[in-house]
Amino acid sequence: MVEMYAVLRSPLEIVFGAGRRAAIAPMTAELGRRALIVVDPFLATSPELAQLVDALAAAGVESAVYSDVVPELPTRGIAACADAARAFGADVLIAVGGGSSIDMAKTCAVLTAHGGRVSDYYGERRVPGPVAPIIAVPTTAGTGSEVTPVAVVTDETRQVKVGISSPYLIPRIAICDPELTLTCPPGVTAASGADALCHAIEALTARKHTAADGADADRVFMGAGPFTDSLALEAIRSLAAGLPRAWRDPGDLDARSRTMYGATLAGLAFGTAGTAAAHALQYPIGAATHTSHGIGVGLLLPHVMAHNLPARMPEFARIATALGADAADQDELAARAPHLVQELLRGIGIPGSLAEIGFPRERLAWAAAEGLRARRLVENNPVPLSEDAALAILESAYAGSLRHLTPTTTGDAR
Ligand SMILES: NC(=O)c1ccc[n+]([C@@H]2O[C@H](COP(=O)([O-])OP(=O)(O)OC[C@H]3O[C@@H](n4cnc5c(N)ncnc54)[C@H](O)[C@@H]3O)[C@@H](O)[C@H]2O)c1
Ligand SMILES: [Fe+2]
Repeated sequence: MVEMYAVLRSPLEIVFGAGRRAAIAPMTAELGRRALIVVDPFLATSPELAQLVDALAAAGVESAVYSDVVPELPTRGIAACADAARAFGADVLIAVGGGSSIDMAKTCAVLTAHGGRVSDYYGERRVPGPVAPIIAVPTTAGTGSEVTPVAVVTDETRQVKVGISSPYLIPRIAICDPELTLTCPPGVTAASGADALCHAIEALTARKHTAADGADADRVFMGAGPFTDSLALEAIRSLAAGLPRAWRDPGDLDARSRTMYGATLAGLAFGTAGTAAAHALQYPIGAATHTSHGIGVGLLLPHVMAHNLPARMPEFARIATALGADAADQDELAARAPHLVQELLRGIGIPGSLAEIGFPRERLAWAAAEGLRARRLVENNPVPLSEDAALAILESAYAGSLRHLTPTTTGDAR
């Protein structure tokens, strides 16, 4: 008998639909009386925010606004947000913005509830208990942070991105209104959309979880399984249908909706399954080049896929089909998947090589060693990632051509 074992973690409620930001105020009123609104700076002076504050007041909720959010979330700003939440006596947080704003609300909630410094919580399951409820309202279609158990911050002392992962960080409610993404410029659409595609593909191809692992009780990111596979595959379909169109025509609401739907599904998938090598290797690349998370993972993804291909042929064939390819031969389909992903991402302006984003060639070995320090991500990769393998992937990404990478054998797949 095939073992039926599946795990999924998610918010209590997810509302998806154009215009559904109208649900923020009434849903907040069910959770608290004093709301700190953590809002992306691009919305700070908008009529939208003024309307939200009025709607909250009409629902009997007092609110204060915190808008000092810096992209990629440097840790130095987080204590100030927590101070603002404490001073206001917030009992609920509303995050409206990109991943940086939602992650600000998550880390702020942790510091407000449990004290200490952000670095006290780096890693998995180090948040000791519940935090104030968060209503997450994304304005980018990318990170999936509205449904995930992780916040990613930039630690300035180490000049790297670090994750805080705990089921307590999952927002209580996610309200996904694609109209809020209509103002994203193409660069933001591309970077956040590439991140979403990477979440879906890394979740679908991650190491597989089994009941015998016992990971459901110990780990936050625990590998792929039936729930997350279904969500990841549908995410890839939806992103393929929406992302290139949303990038070309920012005002196309149907394209925006499909892209945001895909990004949220991808968040649900990786929120339990986790991500892998592309996310691990992006950390040093982002630190050295000051490029966004989405650009880095998008650039690396096809090269990581080429490395992982032999271990995940059936999944790669499904990915190629989800991206619109058609062939009778499943192996041929699978082999096309990294190329199809690269074409899609280049088509929306993701840079083609590490050389193009100014990464110095002589630092490739440093980046390989540094990327391997993200142990949990590396362990989640379907094939083990030695320092040599990480370097080979980075050399391929430096050249920007998939021909430079010789895939490993299937023997050591997990
Ligand atoms: N917590 C998670 O699950 C998770 C997952 C992946 C990535 N991340 C993190 O999220 C961050 C990236 O988030 P992001 O890609 O959403 O970008 P972001 O939040 O950093 O925002 C990027 C830029 O876009 C602007 N912006 C946001 N929405 C806009 C809109 N609708 N119109 C116009 N401008 C808009 C912002 O003001 C900012 O200047 C990184 O720190 C990354 O590491 C978190
Ligand atoms: Fe990501």
